[in-house]
Amino acid sequence: MINIAKPVIGPEEKQAVMEVLDSGIIAQGPRTKAFEEGFAAMCQVKHAVATSSGTTALHVAMLANKIGDGDEVVTTAFTFIASANSVLYAGARPVFADINPRTFNIDPEKIEAAITPRTKAILPVHLFGLSCDMDPIMKIAQKHNLVVIEDACQSHGATYKGKKVGSYGTGTFSLYPTKNITSAEGGMITTDDDAVDDECRVIRQHGMRKRYFHEELGYNFRMTDVHAAIGLAQLQKLAVFNR
Ligand SMILES: Cc1ncc(COP(=O)(O)O)c(C=O)c1O
Repeated sequence: MINIAKPVIGPEEKQAVMEVLDSGIIAQGPRTKAFEEGFAAMCQVKHAVATSSGTTALHVAMLANKIGDGDEVVTTAFTFIASANSVLYAGARPVFADINPRTFNIDPEKIEAAITPRTKAILPVHLFGLSCDMDPIMKIAQKHNLVVIEDACQSHGATYKGKKVGSYGTGTFSLYPTKNITSAEGGMITTDDDAVDDECRVIRQHGMRKRYFHEELGYNFRMTDVHAAIGLAQLQKLAVFNR
């Protein structure tokens, strides 16, 4: 068998996990917070919200941006199924625009033809570590007043004209073992928008701002500190892994 991706786990990850296990705080706690802060710094954004997977990061990002029933989201079919599924989870409809055959990423020239009065967002997928062509995508989004939710699940640390992916709109990342870095399972949402950050945290934790006061329908999409400890150790190695 030829491995196409193999997680590289060193003594740093193992020691970090043991420290969490010994600490007694093993669910979402200080390690998750530290991982979020480190990830936000890596993406050059204000906020990062850790989740249980890239799929749940996408799901929460949809809901936090108020994508819902009757809405349409323009995206690409040339991706992992979770990109389009996240649109369906929110009750909206994915509308596919074709890719550029040279980059395999969504072709900005095909996006505008897919926009209807129901379109609420564009979901570009930065596939295989390569950023989408963000200048025209952001221009189209601005022109049509659309939200941009980036699926950067395969592109941690990638840049477009020097700007990090995940810093254009609401960014989403996967930390599955085949990704640039891993936390075994896990995801991350990135944003500069305080309101989106706040809403993501509420949806991730049962719709709660105050303990046991449930303001809206939420989920348990939290990351554990055991996973965050692995992710935090991996984050220090991202540049080396990417190289
Ligand atoms: C492009 C893309 N989007 C979404 C996902 C979903 O991430 P996860 O497997 O962590 O749920 C993946 C990875 O599997 C992916 O490659």
